[in-house]
Formats: sequence, structure tokens, C-alpha cells
Amino acid sequence: MKPNLNNILLDAYIRDINQARKQYFTQKKFTKKKGKEIKRYCLSVLNSESNYKNFELKGHDVTKMVIAVCDTHFGEKIIMCNTFIFAKGVSAESVKHEIKQIKSFDSTKKLPLFISVLASDLPMLKIMESLGYNPWSYNLVGKVDDVLSRLKVPDNSPEFIVIIPSKRSISELVQGEKAAHQSEATSCVGKWSKKKEAECIKHYRQWLKAKMVVAVKSKNKIIGALAVMGVGSNGHIGTIWVHPKFQGNGISKMLYQAGLQKMKEKKYVDFTGHTSTTKVLNYAKKINRKIFLYNFKI
Ligand SMILES: CC(C)(COP(=O)(O)OP(=O)(O)OC[C@H]1O[C@@H](n2cnc3c(N)ncnc32)[C@H](O)[C@@H]1OP(=O)(O)O)[C@@H](O)C(=O)NCCC(=O)NCCS
Repeated sequence: MKPNLNNILLDAYIRDINQARKQYFTQKKFTKKKGKEIKRYCLSVLNSESNYKNFELKGHDVTKMVIAVCDTHFGEKIIMCNTFIFAKGVSAESVKHEIKQIKSFDSTKKLPLFISVLASDLPMLKIMESLGYNPWSYNLVGKVDDVLSRLKVPDNSPEFIVIIPSKRSISELVQGEKAAHQSEATSCVGKWSKKKEAECIKHYRQWLKAKMVVAVKSKNKIIGALAVMGVGSNGHIGTIWVHPKFQGNGISKMLYQAGLQKMKEKKYVDFTGHTSTTKVLNYAKKINRKIFLYNFKI
């Protein structure tokens, strides 16, 4: 590759992510295909006027790189900003400045903004803390086999049965998800809206079509569900919920077990998930899932 500006930035970006991956994933480097995909994505961000970017170079050395990409999750905007690369160290002042710039760049100002920081980026995490930001949500990573071996699933009870729901269950699943999140003070899903419901239906359509949902039934009613997704060797938990009336009975452990077995069938080695729910975080520690990204509301 010729050392033009974009190529220098892309290389620095990939190097930084691979460095961070070393700490968390079994497969240390991205596959060539995934690497190419990321470069394409990164290039589209660098070339797009609708994303925020700022960088400094000393010769071919990238001393600073910020690319802020707006994405949405359950109707909230997420700014992927885990791309502060400063070879010479970060300062609270410069981070404050970048956050101000990112905020002013967001012309709609209608939804809250989040920025994500890699857990391995300790200087950046310290700075966020010194600026008074508390993490709003977390992305977790674990190894499929390892977590499966640590789950303490309750003994089989005839009352609770694990099933693979069909497309006909979609409204039951969406309503269950809504009830579960509405009852959870620490869930980052927040207030339910028509928009959120539409997004939820869209997700379930895809997951059900791919037969990637596992659910637990009691007396012929779905009382909890978990959805699995994945690319290459990396799986992802798209959602997990248990109906408030049935919480605290180990149902989520049954769901994790069934979901992780599905991941094993798909040959996923590591798996990620996103949460703000205290119960999930507490349990995550017990089963050796680690925090990978900290998401801050800015
Ligand atoms: C999070 C949720 C799925 C847990 O389901 P559950 O079936 O009630 O959980 P389980 O009974 O299987 O318990 C699993 C672990 O969660 C933790 N946990 C469950 N209830 C808890 C409580 N009241 N307080 C603290 N920790 C709790 C515990 O660590 C528990 O394992 P342990 O008892 O061996 O320590 C459920 O509370 C829920 O649907 N919440 C709302 C939706 C949501 O926030 N989903 C998560 C999105 S990432």
C-alpha cells in the first residue's frame, strides 16, 4: 500500500484495534477478510462529510486520530469513538475539546450521544472519569467453552422447557422483551416507544428467520428469550430477557446455556454482548465474561 494519508490512518487504526483484541479474543488478529471489511468501513468514515474526524501526524507517525461515527441502538445514538490514538499520550483538555467538537457536529441534537472507549485504553478511561463521566453501559466478551463450563444451570424442571420459537411467536417475544426491560431500572433500553418497538420487531424477524432465538416456555407461554448472532469466529448475544414474574429462578442461566450451545454449533469461539443491567454485570463476573468497551453518555 502506498503511504498516502488515508493508508497511514487506516494502518494505525487496524494496529490499534488488533492491539486491543489481543487482550480479549482467542483469535488475536482479524482475519484478512475482516481486516479488509474494517478498512473499507474506516475509509468510508474518513471520506464522509457526515462523520466527525480529526487527526495529527508527525511525519508518518499518527499522534492523534479521532473518528466519531454515529450509529443507533434502540433509538439512541452511539458515537463509536474508541479511536483516539495518541502516540504521545492523552490530555483531559484535548479530550474535552474533542467531545465539544463531536457534540457541535451533531446537528440534530435530538437523541443522547454516547462514546465508546476500549477497556484497554486506560489513559482515556481515567480522563473520562476525571471529566466526571460515568460509564452508561458496557460491552462484554467471553469465551464460549469457558463460559459454558462455568454456568450453574438449575436442575431440569418440567415447568420450564427450552424451545426454538417459530416466526409466529414474534409478538409474544416483543411483548415479553418490553415487560422485562420496563421492570429493570438499570436497563439502558429506557422508556419504551413505538420506534423502539419497531426496531425490536425488525431484529426478531431477522433472528427468527435465521433460527437464532432460544426461549423458555412455562405452561405454553414464552417467559424468556435470548438471541444469538455472529460473524466468523465471534458470536454475539443480541438480547436476553426473562419475564419479571419469573425472574430469580435461574431462567437466564438456562437461556445462556442453550444460546451458547447454539454458538458452539456455529463454531463461534468468543462472544460479545452489550448491557447496562446490574444483574447481568454481576453474573458476568462469575462466569468470566470481561468488560471490553465502556460506553459514556456525553
Ligand atoms: C437480567 C435477567 C435476564 C436475569 O434473568 P433471571 O432469570 O432473573 O436471572 P437468574 O435467576 O438466572 O440469575 C442469574 C444471575 O443474575 C444475577 N441476579 C439475578 N437476579 C438478581 C438480583 N435480584 N440481584 C442481583 N443479582 C441478580 C445473579 O448473579 C444470578 O446468579 P447467581 O444467583 O448464581 O449469582 C432479567 O433480570 C431481565 O430480563 N432483566 C430485564 C431485561 C434486561 O435488562 N436484560 C439484559 C439486557 S443485556
